[in-house]
Amino acid sequence: MPPEARTKRPTAGSGIPASRANVARPVARRGGDPASSSPVFRLDDLSVYYGSFKAVRNVSMSIPQQQITAFIGPSGCGKTTLLRCLNRMNDLVDIARVEGKVLYHGVDLYDEQVNPVEVRRRIGMVFQKPNPFPKSIYDNITFGPKVAGVKGNLEEIVERSLRRAALWDEVKDRLKDSAMGLSGGQQQRLCIARALAVDPEVILMDEPCSALDPIATGRIEDLMEEIKTDYTIVIVTHNMQQAARVSDMCAFFTAEINEHSDTRTGILVEFDRTETMFSNPQDERTENYVTGRFG
Ligand SMILES: Nc1ncnc2c1ncn2[C@@H]1O[C@H](COP(=O)(O)OP(=O)(O)OP(=O)(O)O)[C@@H](O)[C@H]1O
Ligand SMILES: [Mg+2]
Repeated sequence: MPPEARTKRPTAGSGIPASRANVARPVARRGGDPASSSPVFRLDDLSVYYGSFKAVRNVSMSIPQQQITAFIGPSGCGKTTLLRCLNRMNDLVDIARVEGKVLYHGVDLYDEQVNPVEVRRRIGMVFQKPNPFPKSIYDNITFGPKVAGVKGNLEEIVERSLRRAALWDEVKDRLKDSAMGLSGGQQQRLCIARALAVDPEVILMDEPCSALDPIATGRIEDLMEEIKTDYTIVIVTHNMQQAARVSDMCAFFTAEINEHSDTRTGILVEFDRTETMFSNPQDERTENYVTGRFG
């Protein structure tokens, strides 16, 4: 369905149904218990299919705001699939289908009145491999605001976004140069700056450091820590140390073999404060995974 077909009702330009369009950003609760912070997302019995294949089943969890939530688990357990449900990127996969609910500040993200384009503006994404546009650094940052029709001072947006992404000092004298000339770590920070330029509330990151060296990884981790006071971050990582270092909450998924077919379906095993997940997990499968005993 084309996006415009989903915005029949007046939506105050937000894409969120009119009755909920003024959902305010709730006030941050810093330094408290991450688990008790009010949720940005609530997943309710969420299952995801690719055609008839059930990739993930019956996931229920709440993702707190202004915290970093990590998704961990073995390859194929559905981390990317689930992450992509949080900003409707799975809409772009023809055979993908969700069952159950994804609530964003209480609004059903899959409601037919919700505009997926607006969803992806509010909920940005950074991918595993840095993917700058083959344009200048400046144009990479201004692309999103221009598409969104932002009338403000674009130069200011460029500087602010690059500063937030800890890249400004390295590129301020070469804004008109191609982004392709940046190092991998710089390109990934540029992609983060590009995501920030449209002023999202949430940033989804799918293994954002897997193509980076330890120094570039450290910079991205510092950056995440710094910006989480303003944003909610959900990160998929295979790096246990990274999950332990950066996240406040951690969800462990695994894939269970289906009895009647040779397929595996992802399930959520445990979701708790990261400290608890790593020091005192409740489930043996979590313990085996976080201690590296997983076969
Ligand atoms: N576009 C697609 N079409 C069909 N099946 C898919 C598609 N994308 C993912 N899958 C399947 O869904 C399951 C979950 O995949 P997903 O990529 O979400 O796992 P993951 O946990 O992110 O794995 P990894 O750690 O390797 O990135 C896998 O069995 C995968 O083969
Ligand atoms: Mg993945």
